[in-house]
Amino acid sequence: MLKNKQLQTWIEQMQALCQPQDVVICDGSTEEYDRMWELLLASGSAKRLNETLRPNSYLVRSDPKDVARVEGRTYICSDEEADAGPNNNWIAPDEMRAKLDQLFEGCMRGRTMYVIPFSMGPVGSPIAHIGVEICDSPYVVANMHIMTRVGDAVLETLGETGDFVPCMHSVGRPLLDGAVDVAWPCNPDDLYIAHFPTTREIWSFGSGYGGNALLGKKCFALRIASAMARDQGWLAEHMLILKLINPAGDIKYIAAAFPSACGKTNLAMLIPTIPGWKVETVGDDISWMKFGADGKLYAINPEAGFFGVAPGTGMDSNSNAMLSLTKNCIFTNVAETDDGDIWWEGMTDDAPAHLIDWKGNDWTPATDTPAAHPNARFTVSAAQCPAIAEEWEALAGVPISAILFGGRRATVVPLVNEARDWTQGTFFGAIVSSEKTAAAAGKIGELRRDPMAMLPFCGYNMADYWSHWLSIGKHEGADLPKIFYVNWFRKDANGKFMWPGFGENSRVLEWVFNRCAGTADAIETPIGNLPATGAINFSNLDLSDSQQKELLQVDIDGWLSEIPLIREYFAEFGDRLPAAFNNQLDELQLRLEKTD
Ligand code: GTP
Ligand code: SPV
Ligand code: MN
Repeated sequence: MLKNKQLQTWIEQMQALCQPQDVVICDGSTEEYDRMWELLLASGSAKRLNETLRPNSYLVRSDPKDVARVEGRTYICSDEEADAGPNNNWIAPDEMRAKLDQLFEGCMRGRTMYVIPFSMGPVGSPIAHIGVEICDSPYVVANMHIMTRVGDAVLETLGETGDFVPCMHSVGRPLLDGAVDVAWPCNPDDLYIAHFPTTREIWSFGSGYGGNALLGKKCFALRIASAMARDQGWLAEHMLILKLINPAGDIKYIAAAFPSACGKTNLAMLIPTIPGWKVETVGDDISWMKFGADGKLYAINPEAGFFGVAPGTGMDSNSNAMLSLTKNCIFTNVAETDDGDIWWEGMTDDAPAHLIDWKGNDWTPATDTPAAHPNARFTVSAAQCPAIAEEWEALAGVPISAILFGGRRATVVPLVNEARDWTQGTFFGAIVSSEKTAAAAGKIGELRRDPMAMLPFCGYNMADYWSHWLSIGKHEGADLPKIFYVNWFRKDANGKFMWPGFGENSRVLEWVFNRCAGTADAIETPIGNLPATGAINFSNLDLSDSQQKELLQVDIDGWLSEIPLIREYFAEFGDRLPAAFNNQLDELQLRLEKTD
């Protein structure tokens, strides 16, 4: 019997609705984790990897129709359509409830209903929140074990009357009359990922993959939490958190928002190439920030693990990630080697002579499709990362000195640009656009607006979210982080990345650190404060003088042609757009025209 009445009642209602064969309250134990894998192995969903090469680790292949977040089937069911905004799909709450009632009725027949009490954030942190996911997928249970804090301590904290966010999930494939299961049950033709920000509920149907199914992550920690944060005066963001230590041993914490598959995990685990500097990891995907008594923003990583992009991760690009993945991992949609280990594009320079690809087919380097799906992911406990900061679970969070915004931009946007103040910084975040990646279903490479890297994750009208950001800047006694706009993805005329990126991004972090410390020079330009000549250490890089200049150049024409596009985008938000943004645009245009 559960102590929390509200939870008990909800479980009973959901059991009546979904009609599962049985109900299991998850305790987060190792035995429970192992039991999930016994089930997944028996059903053919998972394969245990070579015990010597990759101890206690599993390979899972999803249905090829269920490989990424599906933004087109993700809904914000606010009472009014205008409150969801042009950035979200909206269906009226009553209509969506009727649809969900119909979909969930009997949807767990022949399956076990798992009840997963989880904490987003260290249990007991004043910044943490509790959720309960009900689901019918042992794969989800196993992933939630790693990605969140699951178990009895959460139920203790919840007590008799504590609040939780109910997260309802089904793969949407009841097993009728003893039918044999498929390896990856899902229902991609009837997909709904629905959020009710008013009542703070999540209902997800039809997918077992990533952010569609691990509901603590994007659904709760971003879409629902962003609405909670708006109401309560804090920030829920798609941001990594890193600890940067300079050669003198001084520490600053930096948060950075880049769109999906645009380098958060890599930056969070970076190994500086410049001598004496060190980076440690606090989080790689999500940051919750609240004001402390000293007026600083304190951030926690609400997650307990990494659900990271596998392709492109290798010892050269991200050795800390690779060294995190030596044991106790889940690999989804990667390729399998002949000796029962894993491989993906970018792990090594040369591909093995033979693999089984992510779809289960034979693969050789001559095959013209990738061995791993571009959105193949690893799931691993953050505690296994060799670069994890000792304070990554600090209940009070860590004080943030700088916030970086960025995206994939082949042109126009310079390597780094510092905002003069919080308002300009918020504007910088709002005008980020980025080339689409494989993290979501859809066309890759298309340039789209992705303000604050939150386009798919803001649980309400984006214009109201911008106003909320501006109001954070007016918090009484606030000691705010400095804001920077960065771009690692400039390309030259031949389509090659101009900036080496990865560990070399430490050169930009050095400038950011020193700007916060007041020891680095900047020059005021029409677009913001850029590093003064020589302020960024470009030594020992294979960059010509003209390349260095181009990386830090103010592309007047490029920005002038960007402005009408930004105006057009902002116009979508009508009179909800903060007036400050029109001022920012007008002033930016004036400064650019004066220089032209
Ligand atoms: P999500 O988990 O989807 O939110 O993504 P993320 O922002 O954590 O992205 P991640 O760090 O996993 O990077 C995704 C891809 O970008 C990988 O293929 C990386 O190799 C590539 N990448 C990361 N950092 C850099 C960089 O500095 N330069 C270049 N050129 N590529 C990078
Ligand atoms: C992202 O797409 O930004 C991710 C992966 O971090 S998912 O959990 O699928 O949202
Ligand atoms: Mn993400």
